[in-house]
Order: sequence, then C-alpha cells, then structure tokens
Amino acid sequence: MGLSISIFGLGYVGSVSAACFASMGHRVIGVDVNPAKVAMVEGGRSPIIEARMNELVAEEHTTCRLHATTDATAAVLESDVSFVCVGTPSLRQGKQDLSHILKVAEEIGAALKKKKSRHTVVLRSTVLPGTTETVIAPILEKASGQRAGADFTLAYNPEFMREGSAVADFLEPPYTILGAQDASQLGPLRELYKGTPGRVFETTIPVAEMVKYLSNAFHAVKVSFANEVGTLAKHLGVDPQAVTEIFLSDTRQNISSAYLSPGFAFGGSCLPKDVRALTYRAKELDLKLPLLDSVLPSNAEHIERAVEAVMRTGKRKIAQLGLSFKAGTDDLRESPQVQLVKRLLGEGYEVKVWDRDVSLGRLAGSNRQYIEEVIPHIGSILSGDLESVLRGAEVVIVGTKSAGRDDLNRHLRPEQIVIDLVHLDRERRPTGGSAYEGICW
Ligand SMILES: NC(=O)c1ccc[n+]([C@@H]2O[C@H](COP(=O)([O-])OP(=O)(O)OC[C@H]3O[C@@H](n4cnc5c(N)ncnc54)[C@H](O)[C@@H]3O)[C@@H](O)[C@H]2O)c1
Repeated sequence: MGLSISIFGLGYVGSVSAACFASMGHRVIGVDVNPAKVAMVEGGRSPIIEARMNELVAEEHTTCRLHATTDATAAVLESDVSFVCVGTPSLRQGKQDLSHILKVAEEIGAALKKKKSRHTVVLRSTVLPGTTETVIAPILEKASGQRAGADFTLAYNPEFMREGSAVADFLEPPYTILGAQDASQLGPLRELYKGTPGRVFETTIPVAEMVKYLSNAFHAVKVSFANEVGTLAKHLGVDPQAVTEIFLSDTRQNISSAYLSPGFAFGGSCLPKDVRALTYRAKELDLKLPLLDSVLPSNAEHIERAVEAVMRTGKRKIAQLGLSFKAGTDDLRESPQVQLVKRLLGEGYEVKVWDRDVSLGRLAGSNRQYIEEVIPHIGSILSGDLESVLRGAEVVIVGTKSAGRDDLNRHLRPEQIVIDLVHLDRERRPTGGSAYEGICW
C-alpha cells in the first residue's frame, strides 16, 4: 500500500508529479483553484499537453489512485504528505511573486490545525534560498498553531523535469534532492523515492533551494554561450556545427566539472588575452555578444572582492602566498594574484609575497617584463622563505594550493586572519589563525 499524497497546483510540475506518483502505486489527490483543471483530472484527462500524460492520467483515474479537488482542507486531511507545486512567476521588476505559495501555505496551515496525525509539507516550487524556512514556515506555523519540525515536517524537494519530456524526467531524474531541517524526519520522502533511479542527496533546505537556481542559471548561460559563439563563428565564416561537435567531445576540460568550483579569478597567459581577442573581433564585426563581453569585467570584480575582504579586516600588514596564476608554475602574466598585490599596494597596504615557484632570478622574457611593469619593486617584497613572509603579517592571503599544511601550521599565529582564495581541501587547511574564510565559498 502506497502513501497518501496531496499535490497543490495542477500545472506542469503538479500534474506530472500527481500522475507519476499515482503510477508508482500511491493515492494522490490534486488540488487547484482552477475548477476546469480539477474537472479534467476527475474526468480522466490531462490538464496539460505533455507526452505520455493523457495515457497516465486516464490509467490512474481508472485505478482510482488519482483524484482532484478544489477543497484544500479535505486534501490535507486525506493525505500524509502535501507537495506545493504552484507557480512562482516574476513580478514586473523581476522580484519573485510568492503570492500563490503564501496562499497555499495559509490553507495547508489552517487544515493542519484540524489534523491529528503528523503531516509532511514539501515545497517543490522554485523559491529563492531561505524562502521555505523564513517565509513559508512562519505562515504554516501561525495558521496551524504548530511548530515546524516539532509538530509537522517541512522539506524542500526541487523538480528537474523539462517540458516535453517531463514524465520521463520525473521517472528518471538526474538526482533526487531532499532538503530538510532534520534528516530523521525524511522517512515518508525516502519511502516515496525508494525505487527512483539516480543518487539521492539529503541536505539542508537552503542548499536544496539553491541547487535548483544553479541548474537553471547554468542552463541559461550554456544556451547563451552556445548562441554567442555560434554567431561569432558564423560571422567569421567558420562552420559553427563542426566547431561545436569537436568542442563537445572533450569531456575532460569542456563538458566536465573542470573550472566549476568557486575559488579565485582566472588568469595566466591564455584565458584573458584570448577572451579579449574574441570580443575585440566581435566588435569589429559589429556583433553584440553581452555574455562574452561580461566575462573579463566579472573576473575583475572577483579580484575586487578579495581586496574588499582584506579591507574588512581593518588590518594593514598582509602576507600573500602565491603570485603565479596557478601552483606549480612561475607564469606571472595576467596572474590575478599579481593584480591583487598591485591593488593592495595601491591602497597603501604593507604586502609581502611568498611563492615557492617564482624566483626573480630565473624569470625571463615576457614573463619578467610583465612583472617588472606591473610591480616594479617586486624584488623587495617577494621571498621564498615562508617564515619571514608570515612573521609580521596580520592577514594571510592563501592564493596558491602549493603551501603545505604543516609549514603553515608551524608558522601561523593564532591572531592571524586567513583569507583562502583558492578553497583548499579541508584536510589541507592550516588549523592556526583566528579566522578562516573565503570570498565565494
Ligand atoms: N514548468 C517546469 O518545467 C518546471 C520545472 C521545474 C520546476 N518548476 C517550478 O515549479 C513551480 C510550478 O511550475 P508550473 O510550470 O507547474 O506552474 P503552472 O503555472 O503551470 O501551474 C501552477 C498551478 O497552480 C495553480 N494554483 C495557483 N494558486 C493555487 C492555490 N492557491 N491552490 C492550488 N492551486 C493553485 C494554478 O491554477 C496552476 O494550475 C514553479 O515554481 C516553477 O518555477 C517548473
């Protein structure tokens, strides 16, 4: 015997979830303010146009596992778990319109007041991180007179279906994310998803809320990127299809997790100059490519965040570990670490720099010319001796992954503040220092 579920909102997400949960053997009651949608489900017809939905709704209507109503209270009283799948559209200026969710939260809360057994409320609508716990929970609590966690369970379970293949995506999702205040209360949701393929992540509610936005923002960036580079290729007389096909075949650097971890700005002798050359050429061709145009300003802004993080400490003596753009190289050309040192010196900070791989004596050619132009007195602040660089510092900026944990532990003092730009693995982080923080992790 399956669970008893109520689903608020019979739009794309709600009606597909309702039909699919019913097909998995659960008893489902859909709730919508639109009587026409309710009548369609009650008549065995899909309220949305979507592949496989007509058959699924008809089948589950016949088995009597799928019903619909406009009566929110009855639906909550008849079920153990309520999914909230109402719309969260944009208001005129872009702010998220939560009015439908707020209304449903009030209705579910009022119904909970009349309910004896424990209920699970699951948000499935896309909401900004923090909304479930700071906006929805208080409304549910006020209307029900109960406490989230203590008296009813509150969870967030984002949906990753795509219209057009929504049923297939629901039954075979990339993963299932269960966000809860207390994982021990996830029993009913684990039961619901126990046969679902893919990995199940149990996490906090804000993480679950944010993953959904990351996914959609990334998809949007990918589409815009593909369209911009395709446009540029076409205008350069290069076959966009041939280029894309080869590009996509690289699953090590291109279509992979590479370059997707929050850390420090990019730099080095290739990325900045090549993005610059592309965008310059696009301008010559009178092409507007706003996404590519925004890449270098976005990178510069990230270096500014590091400057601001140092400023917030209120300290003046800085040790920066790492000068080259990447550990294990002495390439200083367009290194964001060099830019950061330059900015800090310009702001009047006393800066000392340590880099195991950079020795001025060995630098040659364009590499040497670059550093001498950007920081002419680099020789007086750069050292290969970690201890002497850390000795007088109040703030230590970790800008390289090459500093060893033992070395850092040996020389760091408890009052020193550490700003880790490169997001060292937890087991590689030093344990000394009074504060340890990153700028985007
Ligand atoms: N459409 C998608 O592919 C998709 C995928 C993943 C997540 N989402 C998210 O899921 C949510 C729902 O999206 P959708 O496309 O299914 O929305 P939708 O607009 O298709 O459907 C929303 C439904 O909620 C109903 N409704 C409004 N107020 C109600 C109330 N008080 N009680 C009961 N029903 C009410 C509406 O009548 C409508 O039928 C959104 O937050 C969306 O961002 C959508």
